[in-house]
Amino acid sequence: MSDDRPETDRDGDSGEGSDGENGTGGPIGSERLDREDPLAGFRERFVLPDGEYYMDGNSLGLPSTDAADAIERVLGEWRELAIRGWDEADPPWFRYGERLGDRLAPLLGARSEAVVVANSTTTNVHTLIGTFYEGNGAVLVNELDFPTDHYAIRAQLRRAGCDPDEYLRVVESRDGRTIDETDVVRAMDEGSDGGGSDHEVEILFFPSVLYRSGQLLDIEYLTEAAHDRGVLAGFDLAHSVGVVPHDLSAWGVDFAVWCSYKYLNAGPGALAGLYVDERHFGRTPSLPGWWGHEKATQFDMNSRFTPAAGAGAYQIGTPPLLAAAGLDGALDPIEAAGIDAIREKSVGLTTHLIDLADERLAEHGCVVGTPREAARRGGHVAIEHDEADRISTALRERGVIVDYRPPNVVRVCPSPLYTRYADVRAAVEAFEAILENREYERFERTTTGVI
Ligand SMILES: Cc1ncc(COP(=O)(O)O)c(C=O)c1O
Repeated sequence: MSDDRPETDRDGDSGEGSDGENGTGGPIGSERLDREDPLAGFRERFVLPDGEYYMDGNSLGLPSTDAADAIERVLGEWRELAIRGWDEADPPWFRYGERLGDRLAPLLGARSEAVVVANSTTTNVHTLIGTFYEGNGAVLVNELDFPTDHYAIRAQLRRAGCDPDEYLRVVESRDGRTIDETDVVRAMDEGSDGGGSDHEVEILFFPSVLYRSGQLLDIEYLTEAAHDRGVLAGFDLAHSVGVVPHDLSAWGVDFAVWCSYKYLNAGPGALAGLYVDERHFGRTPSLPGWWGHEKATQFDMNSRFTPAAGAGAYQIGTPPLLAAAGLDGALDPIEAAGIDAIREKSVGLTTHLIDLADERLAEHGCVVGTPREAARRGGHVAIEHDEADRISTALRERGVIVDYRPPNVVRVCPSPLYTRYADVRAAVEAFEAILENREYERFERTTTGVI
């Protein structure tokens, strides 16, 4: 990390008088926002990287002591109980995925039986698209999707005997950043819009939040529009779960997937989750496995599969307990803070970030690529610049951990449970210094995003 760091130090004291409290008309002061932040105390429950400003919680959330303790607990139970842990651990391992589903259900606005923690996000796209796709029409996606969703859907189309180039319909973006929801509806109404398929749409599968620009899509609107046209509506909630409230059941969403390692802070590669609306309970999953068998008779070892009654049916094999335990602990601070308060702070942080970017970075050629209406953005902000790749490297070099997404986006994520407003200011000050001094010129250009 370089010595000429921005003036805000790790304790959050801004050395600058440009904090809007001084009547300059700029953004409201970071310090005041931190003082008034009802969630400020939650930061103490997290293990923060020393000397860094961590703005990458939308890629990998940070560990809380709660998450670490839960992993330690399972490790201890493994030592002490070994095989008996399936029944005798606290909580017992046997229903761990269902139990975590119960805890997650309020964050999703779902009945507990409709949610389970299992598999990876990508596996869950495979099993749910594979289950719901009947080969009668197209799957509707968009060109700004996270690629794994397309890989999995294309594979499932092929498995169903449908050429993905013909049966995957792709809604295009008008501006390269966002998706206009009315274009999605139009794509369901019209034949091919040049995006791939002339077939009627059978399933819409969309993200809640676009991974690059951070646009939050209107799930309720898209679900209703889909249902009006006899189309099933599924969503990838990877970038909204834990930071945006959901009401999946009331909105009538058919199915959804998400990961646990972003705003849920459950740890790298932590077990993912899925939702299946109760209207669809009882189906046989496309990727059945013994862990999705009806629980009461799972150990009868019958070679005929009887699916569990709820979303639990979509589990496949034995849950990796060490990859699940982190979520059990990580949910403690989230539940204590409450998802509405988390969203409120997240909006406060991203608003502060956008205000500061306008004030300090716009004159250096930066453009905020995230929608400005709070209701249309998730938990991160995309700052666009032609030198985004090298700026991201320079920011990391200064201890401001962001990531680069090609072709021109620096993603900045102030995850609400452990980020202060002063950290946002420090990140923007570092950004500004890098642009002013053309510090990024010291680094190699790259076209590859960083993990
Ligand atoms: C929208 C979205 N879907 C899926 C994934 C990844 O899926 P998996 O958890 O299977 O690696 C990501 C990862 O960042 C993502 O952003």
